Amino acid sequence: MKIYKNLDLPNWSAIADKVYEYIKRHEEIYTSNNTWVWFDYTDILKEIPEIEESVASVGLSINWLSIIKCKPDEGFHMHADGYELDDPLRARILAPIRNCEGSYTNFYSVPRENMTFWTAPDYDHPGTDRLNERGQFSLHYYLIDESKGPYEKIDSLTLTSPIVFDASTPHQVITNPEFTESRFTMTIETKESLVPFLDENFATYN
Ligand SMILES: [Fe+2]
Repeated sequence: MKIYKNLDLPNWSAIADKVYEYIKRHEEIYTSNNTWVWFDYTDILKEIPEIEESVASVGLSINWLSIIKCKPDEGFHMHADGYELDDPLRARILAPIRNCEGSYTNFYSVPRENMTFWTAPDYDHPGTDRLNERGQFSLHYYLIDESKGPYEKIDSLTLTSPIVFDASTPHQVITNPEFTESRFTMTIETKESLVPFLDENFATYN
């Protein structure tokens, strides 16, 4: 199984421009101090229906989506998203929005014993049925003890177009030091398992 694979989402470059305009109009996203920006994504789906149309055109439907904001001097620390290794939804869409040129998403091999499960505070996330027993959305991570590294880098990519990636593989974002504005990406969990798509022999979605 591959760690990531390109996904041909029709019209993505025009959609990314619209999403970037949306982000700039929404101060709470644009200036958020969180890397994982928590907002009511049902609003962006209403304002930019092309997102859902593009995803639907390759036979997929959206469970939830989020904006990931990496400040220019910070990137995103090494972590694995909080999926169990047998979770069929652990493969997610990741798509560039702005300032992804010259940045790297690196993947690492990390022993499980150096990873600690962490749950963010409850999060009101309308529109998804991936809710916890309190009816809230929980964001889970595996935090990685980097002091026990260095860990072997097993792959690396620059996000120039949408991909599907295995979010349970430890990863880290290194931002382009030449940029003074944050790097924005969109990640989408689909209702369908994308794990088979990461198989070398899977017929491409398009
Ligand atoms: Fe992640």
